[in-house]
Amino acid sequence: MALHTEATRGAARIITFENPPVNALGIAMVGELLAAIDAAENDAAITTIVFTGSGSFFSAGADINDFLREPPKDAKNIRDLCARIERATKTYVAAIDGTAMGGGLELSLACDYRVATTRSKVGLPEIKLGLIPGAGGTQRLPRLIGAQPALEIMLKGDPVDAKRAKELGILDDVVEGDVIEAATKFAGAPRKRVSARQAELGIKGLGLFAAPFAVATAHKMVPPEDRGGFAAHKLIDAVEAALEFEFQRGLAREFRLFDELVRSAPAQALMHVFFAERELGKIPELEPAEPLDIKRAAIIGGGTMGTGIAITFASAGIPVTVVEPQDDQVERSRQTVFGTFSYHVQRGRMTQEEAWQRAQAIEFAKDYSAIKDVDIVVEAVFENMDVKKEVFTKLDATVKPGAILASNTSTLDIDAMAAQTKRPELVVGTHFFAPANIMKLLEIVRGKSSSAQTLQTAMALGKKLRKVSVLSGNAFGFIGNRMFFDYSREAIALAEEGVSPSRVDAVMKNFGMAMGPFATFDLSGVDVFWRIQQDRGDAVGKRTNIIDRLYQAGRYGQKTGAGFYKYEKGGREPIADPEVEKLFAEEALAAGIAPRNVSDEEIVKRLVYALVNVGADLLQSGIALRPGDIDIVFIYGYGFPPHHGGPMWYADEVGVANVVADIKRFGWDVSPMLAELAQRGQALKDYRPSAKELAHA
Ligand code: 3HC
Ligand code: NAI
Repeated sequence: MALHTEATRGAARIITFENPPVNALGIAMVGELLAAIDAAENDAAITTIVFTGSGSFFSAGADINDFLREPPKDAKNIRDLCARIERATKTYVAAIDGTAMGGGLELSLACDYRVATTRSKVGLPEIKLGLIPGAGGTQRLPRLIGAQPALEIMLKGDPVDAKRAKELGILDDVVEGDVIEAATKFAGAPRKRVSARQAELGIKGLGLFAAPFAVATAHKMVPPEDRGGFAAHKLIDAVEAALEFEFQRGLAREFRLFDELVRSAPAQALMHVFFAERELGKIPELEPAEPLDIKRAAIIGGGTMGTGIAITFASAGIPVTVVEPQDDQVERSRQTVFGTFSYHVQRGRMTQEEAWQRAQAIEFAKDYSAIKDVDIVVEAVFENMDVKKEVFTKLDATVKPGAILASNTSTLDIDAMAAQTKRPELVVGTHFFAPANIMKLLEIVRGKSSSAQTLQTAMALGKKLRKVSVLSGNAFGFIGNRMFFDYSREAIALAEEGVSPSRVDAVMKNFGMAMGPFATFDLSGVDVFWRIQQDRGDAVGKRTNIIDRLYQAGRYGQKTGAGFYKYEKGGREPIADPEVEKLFAEEALAAGIAPRNVSDEEIVKRLVYALVNVGADLLQSGIALRPGDIDIVFIYGYGFPPHHGGPMWYADEVGVANVVADIKRFGWDVSPMLAELAQRGQALKDYRPSAKELAHA
């Protein structure tokens, strides 16, 4: 089936991309377009060629799948398309109605004119995939709007709306109505190649050294190459080439840099993350079901999490009632709500009126009678099964039949809560991460009776709340915390062997983690960890009494000014504390653990492979569906570096057999799944969810 259509309007040939869902310009599509251009160029009645896209997309750019495998010999791509337009003799116009991203915008930049509808957005998001624009974008955008603004757009990778794009000079015209009509107004207009222009910096007043200064500053502002800035430095190099060289030479530089990047480990990892995120909602064996409409919600408990979840609902336009019995807690919660929205106003993210409206969408109540008509309730009371059971019994008796009852529990059994109700099919876990209004991750926990419709509703709600939702089986700690516990145990084991917490953290930050494990303990609370250790010592381990000692000393972390680190009064910056190292040494001595010399490499391996080993168990037991789901949980929930693709992707990069050999060397039990993959010479990415449903451990 053809991936495009052609029509003629007067002297204009309209070429429409028809490659749903996003009109990606893959190899086959480019082949067709080259032929369509040749035909139009050879048609004497045609003076102008207009490109446009069907649906709500002009084009999302290259087909990213093409970068994951070797292209067939002689395959043509967007570069060839742009080169063909450069060589052509007629007038070319891009008529954008919707999204033009990446290679889609680059094709438009190779045209003479660009018009768009007001709803359109344009952008060069390649950096998010660890790439740079590779079809002339780094050379044409600086020539069109100036190198400095172009660099800013390409380094951020965020789309720009049509109005702003016109102000910047990317678009020639923005229209309300028929974009083809607007484009055909350029029929017969003189050619206006962007490539013929000279690139300028786009900011004035810095004199002769402006360009080298801007380039040097840009290099300093992006992360180092091995800490996620791999593509950013190459992007700056490419823009520098646009300033220094004539077009063809700059273009050759861009192509070389892009070709290096596309095969690089960070880019392959980021492309994996892109697809893994989009696969999350595809749940095998889940019969199709229409999600329920969520018009109104309730939260039980206005503590840390309840307040954050309420802000999240209100921000997505869903009015919410928070049931909180404690007056002082209601006051604190109200202050957090107003504080959060006023902060957004201060940062220019919303108007005063919007902030007011959103804050007003959150009501407080003491009694369950206020929430009997809501469509979903999210329970966020204390992490205690007796309290949760009581809440579920009351909710089932009060809230209208058909409403979903969800729990934000971090570790407790969803089925035990469902058993308190006469609607277990409507009970589900919705595990938000703290701070709930900021963290992107949402684990959706499938109870043994949760219906397909309940799960689909939770997934759809996640999307509406702008969360990345991952489905998890119902087992202690679900996916993320279960993995984090093994990771924590290993971090503590390293410190017991004499590696200081600050060194463990520094090594892991250098690996790319947003935070080291010990700083994370101090943020979430050593007391929380202590409580889990009391209840489930088997899950988090207890070789020494270090957690007890810290707990007894009141060292709960940031909130008490000391934990694994010390903090200045009211400060959040961890300061290494020799007292804690002494405690570790004493505890290690008492437990007969000898100090060792541990390399940085071993620190990374022990912490990351702890995640891989438990991740494989979660896959085997059906708690997690796919390796990619686990990667997304750790990237979005725990700050794992996306340029390493997540722990499971990283294991494939290192080679599962190598990981298994190291795990054996560390003396751990190897996950049977990893052992089997290693033996067969397979990778985790070859794993596909089996026909069985998610487990209910
Ligand atoms: N290539 C292949 N598939 C793509 C794609 C692309 N460029 N862009 C989106 N898709 C697929 C998604 O995988 C998804 O597939 P699925 O339905 O099977 O899950 C489907 O299109 C819809 O995507 P989303 O769910 O993300 O849809 P949204 O409407 O939420 O978002 C979007 C649309 C904003 C375009 C978003 O998909 C996006 O950001 N896409 C990537 C854009 C991009 O990075 N373009 C640059 C590509 S690299 C390039 O052009 C190189 C060039 O410089 C040489
Ligand atoms: P919190 O202690 O800050 O808040 C709990 C609130 O619930 C308190 O305000 C309390 O007054 C209220 N409450 C207690 N019983 C109630 C009842 N019967 N009816 C109505 N309100 C009641 O606790 P936090 O941290 O907000 O945790 C809540 C839940 O979220 C727990 O299940 C926890 O495991 C989970 N969670 C916590 C995370 C965190 O980092 N704090 C992260 C993810 C989940």
